[in-house]
Amino acid sequence: MLSGQALAMTLGQWIVLTGGGPRQPAPVAEATCQEVIVSQVRVHNFSVSLDGFGTGEGQSLDAPFGHAGTRLHEWFFPTRTFRAMQGQPGGSTGIEDAFASAWAPGIGAEIMGRGKFGPHRGPWPDQEWNGWWGDTPPFHTPVFVLTHHPRPSVQMNGGTTFDFLDASPAQALAQARQAAAGGDVRIGGGPSTIREFLAVGLIDYLHIVVVPIVLGRGERLWDGLEGLEDRFQIEAVNSPSGVTHVTLSRR
Ligand SMILES: NC(=O)c1ccc[n+]([C@@H]2O[C@H](COP(=O)([O-])OP(=O)(O)OC[C@H]3O[C@@H](n4cnc5c(N)ncnc54)[C@H](OP(=O)(O)O)[C@@H]3O)[C@@H](O)[C@H]2O)c1
Repeated sequence: MLSGQALAMTLGQWIVLTGGGPRQPAPVAEATCQEVIVSQVRVHNFSVSLDGFGTGEGQSLDAPFGHAGTRLHEWFFPTRTFRAMQGQPGGSTGIEDAFASAWAPGIGAEIMGRGKFGPHRGPWPDQEWNGWWGDTPPFHTPVFVLTHHPRPSVQMNGGTTFDFLDASPAQALAQARQAAAGGDVRIGGGPSTIREFLAVGLIDYLHIVVVPIVLGRGERLWDGLEGLEDRFQIEAVNSPSGVTHVTLSRR
């Protein structure tokens, strides 16, 4: 499930030639093999509190996660993957990194909500803001930012482009898939955007990290998704750090 561009072999139409008379040749099996490129829609490293919040209340320029501060991602910061994203060497290579490092391989494009991109709401005050990540964002792919206030695309260093889309999840996914050129599409968050894609059944795989904190307010991931577990095979692994990694794979 984690590999991008997985190739599936579909075996179809086994035709067994049985013939009619006693002297017919032995039955022959003929297989039609077709290569199918399966582009997955994936969520990785998405942290929620015990009470299901994917971000706190009161987001601002100084507080991307509002009153949650850094508490949702303390598990992530020591990992080799996070440090590499910051251009730093070293980092942990245990269970947290085993999950964290699955974030990039096979991904050809990301879709994110405007609330992940920045703290602005309504019409853009200016078009100088290009996200929290500086001149070289860690995505290195096309990134589609969902917003009701589209603006011109921006090309960043390192292969990241930001395209601003006012589109339904299905329309955005079609565009992202095209840009991903056979690669998988990551839904990067925040919680409202993931929820929106889950509601219409467009996500194949989620890696959710349940962090043992209670936020009490903010934006919840699971609201309105009652019975979601019926659509996914769900597994969980506890980490010594105290977080639980939960994977949901579409049945
Ligand atoms: N827990 C984690 O691991 C994690 C990961 C990533 C981000 N986050 C956090 O999550 C928070 C943001 O999440 P959020 O739920 O508040 O917002 P969000 O999902 O990032 O963005 C929601 C906004 O995106 C726009 N949008 C969404 N769907 C759209 C559509 N179909 N068409 C047009 N526009 C659409 C709308 O913006 P407009 O109408 O204003 O244009 C909407 O208000 C941030 O605090 C971020 O730091 C957490």
